[in-house]
Amino acid sequence: MKSNVIELGEFFHKNKFIPLILHWFKINQRNLYWRRNRDLYLTYLSEIMLQQTTVKTVENKILEIINIFPNFNSFKNKKLEQLLKVWSGLGYYNRAVNLFKAVTIINSKFNGVLPDNRDSLISLPGVGTYTSSAILAIGHNQKAFPIDVNVKRLVERISGAEFKDKEIESILSLACKKKISYRSLAESMMDFSSIICKKNNPDCDICKFSNFCKSAFQKFENNQNTKKINKKID
Ligand code: ADE
Repeated sequence: MKSNVIELGEFFHKNKFIPLILHWFKINQRNLYWRRNRDLYLTYLSEIMLQQTTVKTVENKILEIINIFPNFNSFKNKKLEQLLKVWSGLGYYNRAVNLFKAVTIINSKFNGVLPDNRDSLISLPGVGTYTSSAILAIGHNQKAFPIDVNVKRLVERISGAEFKDKEIESILSLACKKKISYRSLAESMMDFSSIICKKNNPDCDICKFSNFCKSAFQKFENNQNTKKINKKID
């Protein structure tokens, strides 16, 4: 492992990144349908839907799908055409085709139970590294770190450097010295990075990490410089 990854793991740990983000999440988490109704089928379905669709669109659509496909078992007496029909409007129909194939495998090979290990999950059509990590963390509360563009941006801004997804996983893993709720950590990073550490105009003023975030310092320095320049012009 590269030494700066180890150093950053220590840096995140020393600055209490994990307890701070978990505390923020307790107060500010998004109240989403699949979080109010925890079940492995809903976690799975929501993660497949969220692959290429916004949280808001998935929230508006998921009930319609659950109405006809409420659980893994319900797929047994249904046709792919019924899923494609209710999927309409979401786009990326290959997700629905893969979902139907994957649930057929879950029902036949895994007795209708969503697998709790990486290899079995990845063997399912439509499940890659990100989705398997999200299912392991959110569905099974296992030590897994789903890294999407938002989470990557959050870690990279704090670190002031760019990393591969695997390196970000290592940094987070090193920062977690104690056993925690890996589900809450995954969801807190998703929420924090899309609500506070946004791509454009991040809310550094109210961010809990701004006192140690490398990019917040840059932002403040830029603001100071702009203020100085404006003063000169005045
Ligand atoms: N994006 C992908 N998975 C998500 C989840 N479970 N909650 C919010 N945003 C997500």
